[in-house]
Amino acid sequence: MQRALGDPLAHDDRYERAIEFLDAVKGFWTQESFHYQGKYYQANGLGLRGPLRRSPLPIICSAGTSPAAKRLAARHANYYLVLAERPDIVAGHIADVKALAREYGRTDEIRFGLSVDVIVRETDEEAFKEAKRFFDEGVKAGTVQAMAQRSEQLSDANKARYKRYNEKEVNGFADLFIEPHLWGGFGYVGIPPGFAFVGSYDAVEANIRQFADLGLSWFFINGYPHLEEIYRLGEHVLPRFRQRAPVAGANDQQPVPLVVGLEARGEGLLEARGNN
Ligand SMILES: Cc1cc2nc3c(=O)[nH]c(=O)nc-3n(C[C@H](O)[C@H](O)[C@H](O)COP(=O)(O)O)c2cc1C
Repeated sequence: MQRALGDPLAHDDRYERAIEFLDAVKGFWTQESFHYQGKYYQANGLGLRGPLRRSPLPIICSAGTSPAAKRLAARHANYYLVLAERPDIVAGHIADVKALAREYGRTDEIRFGLSVDVIVRETDEEAFKEAKRFFDEGVKAGTVQAMAQRSEQLSDANKARYKRYNEKEVNGFADLFIEPHLWGGFGYVGIPPGFAFVGSYDAVEANIRQFADLGLSWFFINGYPHLEEIYRLGEHVLPRFRQRAPVAGANDQQPVPLVVGLEARGEGLLEARGNN
């Protein structure tokens, strides 16, 4: 796929280049005279003298489950983002990246985030009915076959994931539940990121807490249609995570600090957003 976009580098080499690129960004940002001899980038004493030196670097997020992707995250990311796969698999990814971050002395600099869709309703039955509707429409529109064809172009790690979840016989939307409220059906019908929390407000709250307990502190939550789902989340799920005491300067436009039940870790953010 990357070659079709005009980039001839192989998978792992792209990560090596990305590591060097971020080495260079951080070097130029923080030093007046930055020297660097990489395979892809070199620097001979340039740097920024001005105000950027005193500005914090933007937050760097990365993702990907291949060993090369995990090394990039460990070396440079502030947040390593994962999909809502089976919790034991997510825990494994987090442990791998933490171990690599330790090698770079970055255990305190890296945190973890989750990208997940939701179908959340008053009751489980209503939420399951909506998941079934997505599944039936996807099957009818032929997106399942299109996704299967596209999977041939995926990276090895993504191919393995696709195989793990989608190669079993699927006769209906219910066959795609990985856990009672964790559904792989969006991936099956070709809607990324692929996994969704499906259920009542209580069930989705429990799912979020379950993943937070794995060490995830930033949640990118999407739903379809965007506006309606964001209202549902905002009215029925986010308030369950709001701080008991108001934070100075906070308002309803900001991400919700995930404090209830997560006080010890701090820093947690729950963000509902539309996804394109
Ligand atoms: C939560 C999440 C967010 C991602 N966001 C982006 C993105 O904004 N831009 C992009 O090019 N790739 C994005 N990706 C793709 C990954 O960076 C990576 O290319 C992909 O997961 C395959 O990596 P791998 O083959 O090393 O496992 C995202 C992946 C995940 C899981």
